[in-house]
Amino acid sequence: MANLPHPFQYQGSKRNLATHILSFLPNQVERLVEPFAGTSALSIAAAAEQSSQNFWLNDLNKPLIELFKLITENPGDIADAYAEIWSEQHLDSISHYFEVRTKFNQTKDPKLFLYLLARCVKGAVRYNSEGLFNQSPDKRRKGTQPATVRKNIEGVSRLLKGKCQFTCLDYRQVLAQVQDRDFVYMDPPYQGVSGNKDSRYFSGIRTGLSKKIKAKSDQFRKTDP
Ligand SMILES: C[S@@+](CC[C@H](N)C(=O)[O-])C[C@H]1O[C@@H](n2cnc3c(N)ncnc32)[C@H](O)[C@@H]1O
Repeated sequence: MANLPHPFQYQGSKRNLATHILSFLPNQVERLVEPFAGTSALSIAAAAEQSSQNFWLNDLNKPLIELFKLITENPGDIADAYAEIWSEQHLDSISHYFEVRTKFNQTKDPKLFLYLLARCVKGAVRYNSEGLFNQSPDKRRKGTQPATVRKNIEGVSRLLKGKCQFTCLDYRQVLAQVQDRDFVYMDPPYQGVSGNKDSRYFSGIRTGLSKKIKAKSDQFRKTDP
């Protein structure tokens, strides 16, 4: 499916794979649940293909899910806010980025987050041990043009407005509440981006194997030709 709108750049987004992933789902899904929504790329693709009319989008990162809710429900407001923040950067783009970052860490305002995602290195969120966003600006780029952001945001909203439930729960709470007819698409932070030394998302998932499973897996590896 060509030209699906995308809300913001984000590491791990399945934007380029969404149509392919969708081909493994049933043609019609009563409700598509994304416990690790990120940019909700699969839900956007499913809405465009009309394979579901009902979505539950969850991500533990609260400003991220609030941002996605704004994009879906109030596209004009968030597009205006982006244009305003983006246009303030012209005098000294780098200091402006750091000012916005400080303000975001104080307020967790999702509008500021959209600008940081557009302007930071590779859309790659990074947090310090206190949970403060600490990614640097991309010095070669100024962030996506406001007109392009607006077009994408309006496109996402057209597909999803009025069809979504938004939450910022731990995925286990989502799984505890899903119904028999839901289809759950799980896209967690994978091993290698989840540990304490490399926590690339706001939160990771414990990936350590229990001692017993690890011993079995080591044994298997040794015997595997
Ligand atoms: C690989 S990304 C998902 C990408 C998404 N499929 C997309 O297309 O943009 C993983 C997401 O899981 C979220 N996450 C991490 N730990 C979580 C948890 N315990 N419960 C819910 N979400 C969590 C992260 O904030 C991140 O947005």
